[in-house]
Amino acid sequence: MQNITIAIDGYSSTGKSTIAKQLAKALGYVYVDTGAMYRAVTLFAIKNGFIGGKRDNINALVKLLPKISLKFVFNEKLGFAEMYLNDENVEKEIRGMDVSRQVSKIAAVEEVRYKLVDMQKKMGEEKGIVMDGRDIGTVVFPNAELKIFMTASPEARATRRYKELLDRQEKVSYAEVLQNVEDRDYRDSHREISPLRKANDAIEFDNSDMGLKEQFERIHNYALRVI
Ligand code: C5P
Repeated sequence: MQNITIAIDGYSSTGKSTIAKQLAKALGYVYVDTGAMYRAVTLFAIKNGFIGGKRDNINALVKLLPKISLKFVFNEKLGFAEMYLNDENVEKEIRGMDVSRQVSKIAAVEEVRYKLVDMQKKMGEEKGIVMDGRDIGTVVFPNAELKIFMTASPEARATRRYKELLDRQEKVSYAEVLQNVEDRDYRDSHREISPLRKANDAIEFDNSDMGLKEQFERIHNYALRVI
């Protein structure tokens, strides 16, 4: 058995992180949710008034980038790592709609991507890692031994995300969630730097009509074939 790198990319709310987490656990690998990193930088920008107000001030954010510390801290009780922004646990805050509305704008900033991609490459130096995001198979780990590109219909994805937000007691309508999912996909696929696209050697995986168990079994099998 060799340690490999597994890249899971795809559109918003395709359930990438749920499968990536399960897969990492089954293989004894590290799991990294790169969306959480972009979300944490976005939260920092919102809290400092650089975005979300009348006028965006991306230059001010870029200047402060070296001062932003991002860490994943494993929570034994929950069984996964939580995101810390400048030593504060922001796991809950980064998942809300305020951050979701702004994150694609921040993720299109070259300097932000440069900082986060550099951190991600370092996390994967030892292999034995499952990383999910938008550019993992194309930019972060172009040589990953296994690449999955997850897709599902916008409606299937918005329904999942809407349920998640309701469970967290967020006041939001299904229409707004669907719009947000579609907007983010558009922005993420049309940005200049590292747009979301399927790597040539990635396996396309449509899970619109597939339960979690079947998704996990299939992807786990792909991994076992390579390992
Ligand atoms: O995965 P999640 O939906 O939490 O990601 C939030 C946003 O972060 C995406 O919509 C995208 O704009 C950005 N992102 C990215 N590259 C990644 C991961 C996330 O641009 N590798």
